[in-house]
Amino acid sequence: MRQVTLIPGDGIGPEITEAVKAIFSAANVPVQWEEENAGQTTFDSIGELIPATLIASLEKNKVALKGPITTPVGKGFKSVNVQLRQKFDLYSNVRPAKTTKGIETRFDNVNSVLFRENTEGLYSGLEMFDERLQISDSVARITRVGCQKIIRAAFAYADKHGCKKVTAAHKANILKSAGAMFLNEFHAVAKEYPHIQADDKIIDNMCMQLVIKPEQFDVIVTTNLFGDIISDICAGLVGGLGVVAGANIGDDMAIFEAVHGSAPDIAGKGIANPTALLRSAIMMLHHIDLKDEANRIEAALEATLANKAECTGDLGGKASTMEFAQHIIAKL
Ligand code: NAI
Repeated sequence: MRQVTLIPGDGIGPEITEAVKAIFSAANVPVQWEEENAGQTTFDSIGELIPATLIASLEKNKVALKGPITTPVGKGFKSVNVQLRQKFDLYSNVRPAKTTKGIETRFDNVNSVLFRENTEGLYSGLEMFDERLQISDSVARITRVGCQKIIRAAFAYADKHGCKKVTAAHKANILKSAGAMFLNEFHAVAKEYPHIQADDKIIDNMCMQLVIKPEQFDVIVTTNLFGDIISDICAGLVGGLGVVAGANIGDDMAIFEAVHGSAPDIAGKGIANPTALLRSAIMMLHHIDLKDEANRIEAALEATLANKAECTGDLGGKASTMEFAQHIIAKL
C-alpha cells in the first residue's frame, strides 16, 4: 500500500474528494489515504491555515491529492496553494488539456500540456505599498535557475512522451530583463533536445493563437502569471475548469490538484463535477507508477463522460456528484 496525503479542501472539496475515494476503493487501488486538511475549514476550526500535521504528512508521504482551497480576494491570508508550492519548491505546475469525446467545445483536436513556473514571477510575494506616495509595487522576480528548472521539466516531458514541439510564451519584447532571461534560457535548453522543435511566441499573440488554432500546440512552457492565465484558456478550450487536471511537481514532492476553485455557489449541494480531481488523481497514479490502475479508471471515466445523461449538470447531465461516481464504478 502506498500512503498518500489527502487534503479535501474547502467548499465543494470534500464532496468531490468523497467521489474520488469511492472510485479508488471500487478499483482496488493500493493507495492508503492519510487525510489532513488545510485552508478556510481548518482556519475556522483550529485557527491554522496549514496545520503542522499536514506539513509532517507531506514531508513523510511526498505525494498528495488536494481539493480546492478558498482564498479571500484582496485581503486576509496568503494563498495556501502559493504557500505550499513555495515551501516545497514545487516549481512545475503541469496542466494537460485534451479534447474529450462527449464534451462539446468549439474545437475537437486540442491536446497540449502546459508547464507553468510555479514559485517565482509576480507570485514571489515581493509586494510593497508606499502609504505616503500611494505607490504599489508587485515585483515579478525570476531567477536563472528557476527558468532552467521549468524549461528542463518541459523538454524532459516532451522527450519522454514523444512530443514534437515545445513552445515558450513570453514578453521579452517589453520585459527586457526578466522576459529576455527566460527566453534565452529556453533556447539554451532547447539545444540539448535537437529532435524537438523549439518555438517561441509573445504572450498576447500566444493567447490569440490558442483560441484560433489550438491544435498547433504540444508542450507549452511559461512564467507564473502568464501560465496562470493560459491554463484557464486551455481549460476553456476543452470543456472548462470542471474537467481539467493539474499537478504541482518538485524534485522530491508532488501535489496533484483540481484546477478549479472551491465553488462556493454550489458547495454542499452534491452537484459538483469530480472529473477534474479524478483526472488529477489519475495523473498521480502515473506518477507513483500505478499505470494499470490509472488506465482502468481513465477508461471508465472517458466512457462515462461520453454519455451526457450520466454526467453532472455543468456538462449538461442530471447526475449528482455521487451518481456520476457510481456510473464510473459500474464501468470499472
Ligand atoms: P471556482 O473555480 O470556484 O468557480 C468558478 C465557477 O465554476 C463557479 O460557477 C463554480 O460553480 C464552477 N465550478 C468550479 N468547479 C466546478 C466543479 N467541479 N463542478 C461544477 N462547477 C464548478 O472559482 P472562483 O469562484 O473564482 O473561486 C472560488 C474560491 O476558490 C476563491 O476563494 C478562490 O481563491 C479559490 N480558488 C482556489 C483554487 C485552488 O485551490 N486550486 C483555484 C482557483 C480558485
